[in-house]
Amino acid sequence: MLAVVFLLTAAVLVLVQARMKSHVREDLASALRSESHVYAEIEKARREQVQQTAALIASQPSLKTLMSTNDRVTVEDVSEPILQTSHADFLILENSSFEMLAFHSKSDDVPRSTARRLMLTTNGEEDWWFAGGHLYDVSFAAIEAGAAPERRSLGRIALGREVSPKTITERGTFGNSTLVLVRQDTVLLSSLPASVWGEFEAALPHGPATSGSIQEINIAGERYLTSFVELPGDHPLRFYSLQSYDQATGFLRYLNQMLVTLGAVAVLVGAFIAFFVSRQITRPLERLVRGTQQLEKGDFEFQIPISGNDEVADLTRSFEEMRDSLRKSREGSLRSARLEAVGKLAGGVAHDFNNLVMIIKGYSDLLLGTADPKEKAYLEEIKNAGERASALTRQLLAFSRKQVLEPQVLDPNQTVRSMVKMLRVLIGEDVELVTSFSDRVGRVQADPGQLEQVVMNLAVNARDAMPDGGKLIIETQACYLDESYAATHSEVIPGSYVRIATTDTGCGMSKEILGHIFEPFFTTKELGKGTGLGLATVYGIVKQSRGHISVYSEPGVGTTFKVYLPSLDKSVPLPITQQTGGPPKGEGTILLVEDEPSLRVLAAESLQRLGYTVLQAGNGLEALAVAEKHSAKIDVVVTDIVMPRMGGPQFVENLRKKRDDFAVIFMSGYTEAAALENANIGSDAILLNKPFSSDVLARRISELQQKMAGSAAMSMAAGNAG
Ligand SMILES: Nc1ncnc2c1ncn2[C@@H]1O[C@H](COP(=O)(O)OP(=O)(O)OP(=O)(O)O)[C@@H](O)[C@H]1O
Ligand SMILES: [Mg+2]
Repeated sequence: MLAVVFLLTAAVLVLVQARMKSHVREDLASALRSESHVYAEIEKARREQVQQTAALIASQPSLKTLMSTNDRVTVEDVSEPILQTSHADFLILENSSFEMLAFHSKSDDVPRSTARRLMLTTNGEEDWWFAGGHLYDVSFAAIEAGAAPERRSLGRIALGREVSPKTITERGTFGNSTLVLVRQDTVLLSSLPASVWGEFEAALPHGPATSGSIQEINIAGERYLTSFVELPGDHPLRFYSLQSYDQATGFLRYLNQMLVTLGAVAVLVGAFIAFFVSRQITRPLERLVRGTQQLEKGDFEFQIPISGNDEVADLTRSFEEMRDSLRKSREGSLRSARLEAVGKLAGGVAHDFNNLVMIIKGYSDLLLGTADPKEKAYLEEIKNAGERASALTRQLLAFSRKQVLEPQVLDPNQTVRSMVKMLRVLIGEDVELVTSFSDRVGRVQADPGQLEQVVMNLAVNARDAMPDGGKLIIETQACYLDESYAATHSEVIPGSYVRIATTDTGCGMSKEILGHIFEPFFTTKELGKGTGLGLATVYGIVKQSRGHISVYSEPGVGTTFKVYLPSLDKSVPLPITQQTGGPPKGEGTILLVEDEPSLRVLAAESLQRLGYTVLQAGNGLEALAVAEKHSAKIDVVVTDIVMPRMGGPQFVENLRKKRDDFAVIFMSGYTEAAALENANIGSDAILLNKPFSSDVLARRISELQQKMAGSAAMSMAAGNAG
């Protein structure tokens, strides 16, 4: 663009200049022509005047008388005053025999001999003499005696007047013109410096030229326009007037220079502005590129200043937003990965610990039945310790997501509402409990006990954060986590969720604390007050329920935990709640398959006490052999899932090939989710979460037996009807 403007301007300049040059040339030419013409006219008039003077002098009787003497001495002496009155520079009197009788000159520059020679070569009435370095305009008049027809020539009078550039310019209007008088291509006189006369002569066009024509010549590197007129005589001259074309067009050069300078300045200023403007764009882009490069190196904090509202600023803002969400997502993934690793470790420990705890609890139960009152107190203590240890392992398993859940379709409002009474007691009088349940929340698929645990842990933490009282708000709400939210929270799948939020006005948390709260055993509470498993448990349960948890906290202001659980439609029916009573008395045969002998023996003992016949086996293969030997009915098979040689599901499958009149309860305290999913345990099979008490096992067995009796009756009725 700039270049185009520049080219157009240059083209206009060239055109204007060409036009102006041609104008200047025309002006100069016409000035020169008129100058020469004027000079020729003036010269003519002057000559006429001199000739008249010469004629006047020649007609004087005294001169005629003097000339008649034809005596050189007399004529010379007597004629001297005539020079003074004639205003000429020299005076010559010649007799009719062409002898010079008198020669008077105001200067000594013209030698008499030269004058004589020139007189001999001049016949006309006028001539141009160049003598002694001076140019003379010479007029002649005849001196005659007597009247016609007896007129007799007495000789001639010549009056010469010096011509110099000065006298010429004084006479005419020659402005800046330079004058040159030339004879036969030789400069005789000129207002040019003598040093360049030779150049002028060389530059003169050779060949015929008409007076008044304009020629261009070059003198000392300068161009001139010139025109001439012929000055007639026996020794004619050419009168040249010159004007410098370069000087006349000098203003154009100056104008040109000025315009070029202005143009250059404009281009420079334009270029600078363009550079400045482009830098305004390129600099932020450079920073943006730096930011991206830094991002590639893992630097999420590189500062990119944003100013203005142009496209680049918008782009930078978008980049910052993208980087921010990337950072959040990365932090989230790192945290998840860390928690995953800790979870694996915790899960492994909890698994081994779990079986031990069950044994402690079980045997204390057994002993409690037979011990005397004093021992009973001790046993109660052992059992309590076992309960606490059991609760701990449960939490750890929950965190590591290796707990066997019993998910149901729940109305989260109902679950939380049923806890309100208990929560009020839990948080104490100083903390105000405010609840808000949205009617629009859907159902969730979760283990009710676990969901209660989540709410309770959050409430207890809130209470601990408000030792001097405050407010705890529990809300439920339907919400949609969209793609943009999922983009910044790697583990979130976009969709409808039920949000259960707890907000407290407690002490809040610093950023450092926030980074660790979900880790097991992280606590800021004093020794003995907190185990640091509360939020780890919450985290595990939420994750296992395919949910998501987020926290917002400000030190000194308070904390909000938001638990998101995938939402089911509201129309999904809720299961009918079952009543639980005391441990039922049992009858029938149970095949108990468990690889941990002490656990197996313990369970067998408890069941036998309730009245069951118990067959035992250490793994699936053994169990098949036991069943083979036992020809009578087996009512219920209670089996561990993961066992050496043959696991529970495979054993059940094999047994079904031989008999199918039994119900199954699978037990597991530590089952990889995948193992559970892969194991074909049947949709109606019951899963029992270790550690469990003998009571629970007995209740489950009796429930199963009732169910079986019911369905047997129905099929019988159907058979009868058929
Ligand atoms: N609502 C809250 N306000 C302020 N800090 C909290 C809140 N909830 C949790 N915290 C912080 O997170 C830490 C971990 O909580 P977490 O529930 O996992 O363990 P804990 O409460 O210390 O022990 P416990 O196992 O008995 O629950 C707490 O020690 C506390 O510093
Ligand atoms: Mg806690």
